[in-house]
Amino acid sequence: MKILGISGSPRKEQQSGVYKLVSTVLENSGCDWELISLRGRSIAGCIACLGCVKDNVCKVEDDCRWLRDKIVAADAYVIGAPNYYSGINALTHAFLERWFQFRHQEGNTLWGKLGVAVGVGGSSGKMPADDIEKFFLYNFIETVAKVAGQGSASCFTCGFGETCKVGLPIMLYGEGVRITPEMIPAVSRQPAVMQAAADAGQLLGQRLRQGHDRARVTEKMKQTMMAKLKESA
Ligand SMILES: Cc1cc2nc3c(=O)[nH]c(=O)nc-3n(C[C@H](O)[C@H](O)[C@H](O)COP(=O)(O)O)c2cc1C
Repeated sequence: MKILGISGSPRKEQQSGVYKLVSTVLENSGCDWELISLRGRSIAGCIACLGCVKDNVCKVEDDCRWLRDKIVAADAYVIGAPNYYSGINALTHAFLERWFQFRHQEGNTLWGKLGVAVGVGGSSGKMPADDIEKFFLYNFIETVAKVAGQGSASCFTCGFGETCKVGLPIMLYGEGVRITPEMIPAVSRQPAVMQAAADAGQLLGQRLRQGHDRARVTEKMKQTMMAKLKESA
């Protein structure tokens, strides 16, 4: 059983809360896994050219090309994104839009697979995790767990945090704030969040080792999707 992990943060691995949480989920799964960061990758959003409708293969030539094989080969996904403007960031959104290529005709490449959705935000990671769950659902992938944490907003490290009137440090702590390392949120110092990531990894591993029935999961997710569509009609 192979899990593909994707960190959608454009930050360096050591600075990224998303990368930390996605790797924690993977490390606790007990399965084979690979973690790919989208940092520095060239991935554009879907251009609706419909080049994929006959064979479920996207024809746009960028980094999504080689990633496609890894997406197809994986039994499950751990996908994480930072919160940008109360939702998933553009890089991860572009990457997930390109999964449109798998959705045509009898293209069941992803149907019934399992996923964990990870979100990190300066205040909350819930919204990006919810967004990823929504993308999973469109491909009939079951989200077995969601993990959300608080990461470091750039204002703490941009160099102007103690004086910038619209930066988070002054907004949170007031004028005259002195930024200390302990003040800067880090997922690794949030025991409940780290535990949730470890638990999500263990649950995903268990579900995969039980030999989950993809047809049954597909049916369940189809019904969930239909209910959501009716709800929003
Ligand atoms: C352009 C931009 C917009 C952001 N918008 C939000 C936001 O709306 N809500 C929030 O909680 N954090 C917001 N943040 C803060 C990031 O979510 C935060 O820095 C998080 O730690 C990023 O994850 P990473 O450490 O994995 O890169 C924003 C950051 C940037 C760069």
